[in-house]
Amino acid sequence: MKNILVTGGCGFIGANFIRYMLEESNFSGRIINMDKLTYAGNPDNLAGIEAAYPDRYVFVHADICDSDAVFKVFREYSIDAVCHFAAETHVDRSILGPQDFIQTNVMGTFILLEAARNHHNQLELFHHVSTDEVYGTLGMEGFFTETTPYQPSSPYSASKAASDHLVRAYAITYGLPITLSNCSNNYGPYQFPEKLIPLMVMNALEGKPLPVYGVGKNVRDWLYVRDHCSAVWAIMSRGKRGETYNIGGRCEKANIEVVEMICDLLDRIRPDAGNACRRDLVTFVKDRPGHDLRYAIDCSKLEKELGWRPEESFETGIKKTIEWYLDNPDWVERVRSGAYMEWIERQYG
Ligand code: NAD
Ligand code: TYD
Repeated sequence: MKNILVTGGCGFIGANFIRYMLEESNFSGRIINMDKLTYAGNPDNLAGIEAAYPDRYVFVHADICDSDAVFKVFREYSIDAVCHFAAETHVDRSILGPQDFIQTNVMGTFILLEAARNHHNQLELFHHVSTDEVYGTLGMEGFFTETTPYQPSSPYSASKAASDHLVRAYAITYGLPITLSNCSNNYGPYQFPEKLIPLMVMNALEGKPLPVYGVGKNVRDWLYVRDHCSAVWAIMSRGKRGETYNIGGRCEKANIEVVEMICDLLDRIRPDAGNACRRDLVTFVKDRPGHDLRYAIDCSKLEKELGWRPEESFETGIKKTIEWYLDNPDWVERVRSGAYMEWIERQYG
């Protein structure tokens, strides 16, 4: 793989992946980052990368739904692998307005697949990045495996499920060399503060209410973002073509547990000026419609076949994450001054 097209590389995971690939992995080729720069795409996430890697990094500002632009990139940069992150990703937004999710996640993936099919002879791999949310919800027992039937609950997860099916169909019908990964909830640096962990960190620092949906007992399986990046690269470089791999941290936590850990860590690292206890900010709010109770990933296929292991525990990962947000107030200020604030205002008043 010499020229990898990364879509959505200015988003949370995409930016961490590009940094991982250029700064840490054994990849020695070039990354072409195609991003539309929606509210969630932030060029700041890759600050310094263009200057540090002028021959190995290219940014293309384009929409994956723009077929001419996508076909042009495949030709112009001799793309031989794709790592497809670009998507609309926030479940609550998908409930309020699903259209962009169908457009980008379904149509955008279709257009990328068409370009890949057209470019078939040169393409070594199309890697599709997906989510464990396609499997729907678990009760308090059991785990998602690669053969768990799809049962998506939200417009977001339904759109990701549709894109997964399209990717597999292109492999079966046209022989496209694909791999696919379904990962659990990520956290870490550069995550847009609409998702649970960065939202709670920001609000807690400002003494604002911490809105916990329902009774806070929903369980997510958390993975530090760098561990997701190393798993994606392990699959791309060593995974069996045509296969799906689940990625997870074996780290289940109820939402209320996560929020209380954040409160306690912040009280220790950055005590409130008036010595207030951040746990007092927890506010139970109306539950999300169709809120999946529990996600938990069985990632033994990835562990056994590719020898992948996460490096961070939740305790080390959450500390690093909080410290990153504390150390990067300028980044926080900039992302919060834009569309995000309008959204939060509409949501929470
Ligand atoms: P994100 O919302 O932070 O970033 C998405 C990026 O895609 C942004 O840079 C945005 O500008 C770009 N984008 C959106 N629409 C586009 C379009 N039409 N054309 C080009 N670029 C476009 O998302 P994320 O959290 O980094 O997630 C990345 C991928 O990983 C997604 O496919 C998501 O489904 C998957 N995933 C995320 C998680 C998680 O916990 N965040 C877990 C598992 C899987
Ligand atoms: P989120 O970060 O939106 O990820 P996802 O919905 O993809 O799992 O939410 C993680 C969990 O936290 C989920 O169970 C919903 C819950 N949640 C809250 O309780 N309050 C919030 O303000 C947010 C954003 C999420």
